Amino acid sequence: MVFLTKEEEAMLSGREGHAAKKSMEIIVALAKIFGAEKLIGISSAQVSGVSYKNVGDEGLEFLRVLSKDGKARVSSYLNPAGMDLENWRDFGISESFAKKQLEVIEVFKKLGIVPTCTCAPYLVADIPKFGQHLAWGESSAVAVANSIFGARTNRESGISALASALTGKTAYYGYHLDENRKPTLTVEVEAHLAGEDDFGALGYHVGKIVKSGVPYFRLKKKTATVDRLRSLAAALASSGSVALFHVEGFTPEAKIRGFEAGKMEKISFGQEELDSAKRELSDGAEPDLVCVGCPHASLEEIGKIAKLLLGKKVKKEFWICCSRSMMKAAEVAGYAKTIEDAGAKFACDTCMVVCPIEELGYRTIATNSAKASNYSRNLNGLKVCYGPLERCVSAAVEGKW
Ligand code: F3S
Repeated sequence: MVFLTKEEEAMLSGREGHAAKKSMEIIVALAKIFGAEKLIGISSAQVSGVSYKNVGDEGLEFLRVLSKDGKARVSSYLNPAGMDLENWRDFGISESFAKKQLEVIEVFKKLGIVPTCTCAPYLVADIPKFGQHLAWGESSAVAVANSIFGARTNRESGISALASALTGKTAYYGYHLDENRKPTLTVEVEAHLAGEDDFGALGYHVGKIVKSGVPYFRLKKKTATVDRLRSLAAALASSGSVALFHVEGFTPEAKIRGFEAGKMEKISFGQEELDSAKRELSDGAEPDLVCVGCPHASLEEIGKIAKLLLGKKVKKEFWICCSRSMMKAAEVAGYAKTIEDAGAKFACDTCMVVCPIEELGYRTIATNSAKASNYSRNLNGLKVCYGPLERCVSAAVEGKW
C-alpha cells in the first residue's frame, strides 16, 4: 500500500493532465515493486536516454505525446545527446541522424527539461546538497551525487527520471533510506593510485565484485581528488551497478557516520590487481581517435589538457567531451584557444559512447576513462588503448600510442 498525498492523487487521477497521470502511474508502480510506503519530493531530476541512438522513433513519439501537456515541476536537466548540437557536421554525423536528434532535444525543451546535455550536471547546473533527494538517471552522476555530495538518489532509468521531472516526486526506497547507505564491502587499496586511469581501473575491478553493493575504500596513499573519484564512480557504475561508495576520510558520509571497516567482508586491491584491470581495459594497438572527458571534463581537466597541448599540433583526431557550459568556461579561461590551435576538438553535448561512433568509421580509440573503455569495447564493438591523460594527449600529438 503506497500512501499518496492529495496532490499526488490528483496527478494519478488525470486531473492534472495526461503526462502527469502517466508519470505518476510509473512512479506508483515502482513504489509498489520496491515496497515504498510513500513518495517524496525531489530537488532535481536528471534525465538520461537522450541520444537518438537510444531513443529511436518510438521513444520520440512517446515523448511527443507527453509534451502535449507535460511540464517539468522541478529543475530538470538532460544527459548527453548523440552529437554536438551545434558542430555535428565537423564530426561526420549524418543529416538524417542530426535531424532526429534535434527533434528529440526540441521535445525535451517543450517538456521544460533544460538541455544541459551533460553527465556531470553537478559541475555546471545543479550542485547537490547533503541529504537532498534527487531523481537522476545517468549512472556515473548518480554515484557522484550519492557518494561525493552525500545527496540521495536511486539509479533511475530514462523513463523514471522523466516521470519524476514531470511530477516532482520519486518513490521513497533504496538509497533514499539511511539503512541502504551503509557499506557492504571494505576495499583495502594497497596499490599506489597515481591518476584518473588508476582510479578507473580500481572501479572497474571492484564494480565486478561488489555488483550493486556499497564499497568502502580505504586508501593507503591519500591520492584521491574529486576528478579521480569521478573516474572511480563512473567505472564502478559501469562494470557493476554501484550507486554509492564511501572513501574513508574523504566522502561526507564516511566522515560523518564513521563506518567500522572491521565489521565488513574485505578484499584488497594491490599492484597485481591494478595491472590486471588495466590490461583488461586495453585491447587495442593503435588508436584512430583519442577521446577524453568521460565523465564530462571539468575545467581543471581541460586546463591540464591545454597545458599539455601548448604550442603543439595533433596528428590524430582528438576529442575532449564536455558540456557546452564547460567549453564556454574554458574559452573564458583561455584554455579553449590553446586546445583548438593545436587542432583538438571540443565534443560538446555528447560523448564517445552515446554518439553513433561505429558509423563514423572509428575502430580503435584511446582514452583515460575505464567506463569509456568498458562500454566502447562491450557495447560499441571498438578496440581501446587505455592510459593516463598525459599518454592520451601524447598519442594525439605524436600520432602513435
Ligand atoms: Fe558521460 Fe558518456 Fe561517459 S555520458 S559518463 S561521457 S559514457
